[in-house]
Amino acid sequence: MSKHKYPGIDRARSRVAHEELLEWVAEVAALTTPDDVHFADGSEEEDRSMREAIVASGAGVWLNAEKRPNSLLVRSDPRDVARVEQRTFICSRRKDAAGPSNNWEAPDIMKQKMEDLYRGCMAGRTMYVIPFSMGPIGSPISHYGIEITDSPYVVAHMRIMTRMGQAVLDQLGKDGPYVKCIHSVGYPLTDGREDVPWPCNPENTYISHFPAERLILSYGSGYGGNALLGKKCFALRIASCMAREEGWMAEHMLILGVKSPSGRKTYVSAAFPSACGKTNFAMLIPPKPLQEEGWEVTCVGDDIAWLKPGEDGYLHAINPESGFFGVAPGTSYDSNPMAMESLRRDCIFTNVALTDDGDVWWEQMTKEKPAHLIDWKGNDWTPESRDADGHPILASHPNARFTAPAHHCPIMDPEWENPEGVKISAIIFGGRRATTIPLVYQAFHWIHGTYIAATIGSEKTAAASGAVGQVRRDPMAMLPFCGYNMGDYFGHWLDMRRAIHYLPYIFAVNWFRKDADGQFLWPGFRENMRVLKWIVQRCHGSVSARETAIGWVPEYDDIDWSGLSYSRSQFDDVMRFDREEWHRELLMQDELFMNLYSHLPKEMVFKRELLISRL
Ligand code: OXD
Ligand code: MN
Repeated sequence: MSKHKYPGIDRARSRVAHEELLEWVAEVAALTTPDDVHFADGSEEEDRSMREAIVASGAGVWLNAEKRPNSLLVRSDPRDVARVEQRTFICSRRKDAAGPSNNWEAPDIMKQKMEDLYRGCMAGRTMYVIPFSMGPIGSPISHYGIEITDSPYVVAHMRIMTRMGQAVLDQLGKDGPYVKCIHSVGYPLTDGREDVPWPCNPENTYISHFPAERLILSYGSGYGGNALLGKKCFALRIASCMAREEGWMAEHMLILGVKSPSGRKTYVSAAFPSACGKTNFAMLIPPKPLQEEGWEVTCVGDDIAWLKPGEDGYLHAINPESGFFGVAPGTSYDSNPMAMESLRRDCIFTNVALTDDGDVWWEQMTKEKPAHLIDWKGNDWTPESRDADGHPILASHPNARFTAPAHHCPIMDPEWENPEGVKISAIIFGGRRATTIPLVYQAFHWIHGTYIAATIGSEKTAAASGAVGQVRRDPMAMLPFCGYNMGDYFGHWLDMRRAIHYLPYIFAVNWFRKDADGQFLWPGFRENMRVLKWIVQRCHGSVSARETAIGWVPEYDDIDWSGLSYSRSQFDDVMRFDREEWHRELLMQDELFMNLYSHLPKEMVFKRELLISRL
């Protein structure tokens, strides 16, 4: 069968029963011409050798084994530090199916382009074949993938972020379905070309998705969502297309559990655009007085939720991932103690700073900055370091990341790996809004909630003295991650109400409202528990709410204020409904709706008109 003879493929035969998979791997090897092929088994020894390869390449260093056992610090090429939305493509057959929020290219043209880039691109390298599961292996909500890559950094990451290795091959059996993912850093070692610590190819980076074939082709970047194809590419972009066809939901949501003093568990999922403290909310520690009352939060996931209607009429959710790929700067024992606890061993840190005793540091990790560091670019750093223009130099890149196994988090929910998922009672949508949007309100029903979710967003610039900043609309926090036309996605959300008997209640929150002087009106962080408590009580009908034009809102006395001095007038400010601001808000929504007009469900237009008339 194979056009090229790779001993690695022959070696794998004894443990891969899937002929079509072997055939495909052989085809990709023939195209990319690696030195050899290695099927990842997911073992500890294999992981060790991947980490050693990362160190040998010069990209990584072992951290102090006493302070951070089995952990690496890796520095990427400074040109390869984040997802690249402008080079991300949805290659549906018709442009219209990708919609105005996605870059589009015709599948044949993009495939040809990728094939040309892939030709010989793994020369001098090993090609790794990574079988992975998104979700617990065998769960009715899970789906499987195979990522082919030439990056040991990707192999080591996939072992943390997904269930990876032989167990997935066994689950696939002879002919199980899987999503095909090909990744190359795009730096072939032909003609004696020397390798570099972090090979990449920024000029030719493409992250392309082929929904009809459930295929992902990525080239040129080794970083995060560009290279770990199970995450944004599969679990959101391709999965959102699968979900629409199959009647479920793939969402950019955290999942958490809330235990009440009576012991009742309520599961909630929540969507926030990037940079709204999603990981902090997913690992919330309630304020002391609420803890003493018996309130407890547990984490199921921090980034992505797959939600399927169950035969029992509930919406069941799993976290398809098994690790956290979190933004490091800003994470501290103050802001997120449970994330910090998850980082004690077996982690990979990318683009953070190195301390003199072989540990990691990033901005805001500690109140005091260390006197000396090696910064993320590998240079000496002190708190006085300045660039040529006299601006302070950051020790870590703003998008520096930690990669940590989820089971290291002390507050993982006991059900987080339950193949049946957890039953979702509420869905929260948040944005970063200095004005207009109150701390919390509840949608009247699913259609209204879908409308609220469709119109969330974050201000680009902070609003000063009443001037409204421009809002970047980020419907359901899915703008960069929806694999098809956003208007059709709203339609799918509306359709889901017929598939779920016990529909979750929908809420909007805004932790970021400011006063006229630009001061935050809400303390945020663990105090968000007070809002979460009201939300959970609303799910069980055990707290009241007042009807307003925009939805149901709590009164001051509906919120648990124990241990926090937050006055009635402060609450009035953070909840304030300003007719003028809402009129402006609705006008601004026009832009989003016009943009999506040809696929926009009429319910969205009606909801907006209804709101205008209620105002
Ligand atoms: C992420 C993101 O990295 O949403 O999770 O950008
Ligand atoms: Mn995310």
